[in-house]
Amino acid sequence: MNVVVAGGHGQVALHVLRLLAERGDGAYGLIRNPDHAPELERLGAHAVVCDLEEKDNLAACVADADALIFAAGAGTGSGPERKRTVDLGGAVKLVDAARVTGIRRYVMVSAMGAGDPEAGGEQMRPYLEAKAEADEVLARSGLDFTIVRPGALTDEPATGAVAAGPDVGRGEIPREDVAAVLVAALDHGEKTIGRTFNLIGGQTPIDEAMRSL
Ligand SMILES: NC(=O)c1ccc[n+]([C@@H]2O[C@H](COP(=O)([O-])OP(=O)(O)OC[C@H]3O[C@@H](n4cnc5c(N)ncnc54)[C@H](OP(=O)(O)O)[C@@H]3O)[C@@H](O)[C@H]2O)c1
Repeated sequence: MNVVVAGGHGQVALHVLRLLAERGDGAYGLIRNPDHAPELERLGAHAVVCDLEEKDNLAACVADADALIFAAGAGTGSGPERKRTVDLGGAVKLVDAARVTGIRRYVMVSAMGAGDPEAGGEQMRPYLEAKAEADEVLARSGLDFTIVRPGALTDEPATGAVAAGPDVGRGEIPREDVAAVLVAALDHGEKTIGRTFNLIGGQTPIDEAMRSL
């Protein structure tokens, strides 16, 4: 399977690309800075220079993919404007690219709280609104979507176990476990396509968590 990960130099994305490459899948990361390419190549992944904000049309960036994962983000240091151009705009451009190229499968890294941005507080609201709008565009796109809404991300090592579902409560999760869930979501399409779920660290092995959705 060939998988394109948007935001390919991101921390979650690098784990995803490594996991895919390790098991022999084609792992392609969309990056905006060509200097980041060697870091992806060291993992066995391919780098495609593709700035999600500068380009209007991402079709050429995703051409032969079987599945897309959106893992980009403007980041905590950015203002509301870049939440619109990256977290929302980039994700929507990737939906458009999937439609144009006929790629059916799209897994979104959203965020816990995107189901109710109003509850997120003033500082988080622009981010959660951007995530919520992107999720809605994807959910209405007709694509085979999965929307994953993790709690706070940490750099702790993977545990291999999570809590996934509509009512998992608030909590943290290592980025490496999020990455493993994104890959497992691709493997368990029969359970994950058309689903939106929250995700935090937990006790259920990841494959079992996906099968239990
Ligand atoms: N932090 C949290 O607690 C939390 C919680 C829930 C969900 N999330 C979401 O989880 C996802 C992954 O998080 P993360 O920690 O892995 O994020 P990250 O390390 O900040 O990675 C985001 C990536 O997006 C890339 N990017 C930004 N603008 C771009 C553009 N115009 N074109 C192409 N790439 C662009 C960045 O590129 P550069 O490397 O060039 O800067 C970066 O590599 C994000 O969507 C985030 O919103 C985060």
